Amino acid sequence: MAKALIVYATRTGETERIAELIAEGLRISGVETDMVKAGDVKKAAELEPYDALLFGAPTYHGDMIQGMKTFLFLAENANLAGKAGGAFGAFGWSGEAPDRIYDTMKHIFKMNMVGQALRLKSSTLGGGVQMAQEYGKSIAAMLKK
Ligand SMILES: Cc1cc2nc3c(=O)[nH]c(=O)nc-3n(C[C@H](O)[C@H](O)[C@H](O)COP(=O)(O)O)c2cc1C
Repeated sequence: MAKALIVYATRTGETERIAELIAEGLRISGVETDMVKAGDVKKAAELEPYDALLFGAPTYHGDMIQGMKTFLFLAENANLAGKAGGAFGAFGWSGEAPDRIYDTMKHIFKMNMVGQALRLKSSTLGGGVQMAQEYGKSIAAMLKK
């Protein structure tokens, strides 16, 4: 069975909620999915057993939250080239973090990224629940190709 890992940072829990919904979408599609907080990943090697990896962080002061920055420097030491990838995050008005994470995964880690990053104002607003679940399903679809 294909395996996915969702790594997220959050301050008030909104990005964690999005991560849970993405995980639901993956699991519904038959992908075994683990979730971990960015600060709990201690070694780059922990990332390598997975076929797909999704990284998520909210935007504060126009940037990704610090925990995700630290995690991305750690992830740089893993061999993630060619693995399926996605990026997501909660935001209030500008939402820079998901696109920056996405670009790092694409250009530095050389991952096979899903169409675009998922930015949600809130999992509960504007169809957020469905969008997050669909995001998980679209990553699962990449693993079946
Ligand atoms: C001090 C502060 C600064 C923020 N800065 C931004 C920002 O620059 N751009 C933005 O889109 N949202 C900003 N937000 C909104 C958060 O991104 C939003 O509340 C998000 O849902 C938080 O996600 P979290 O619960 O995962 O931490 C800010 C919120 C606070 C409290």
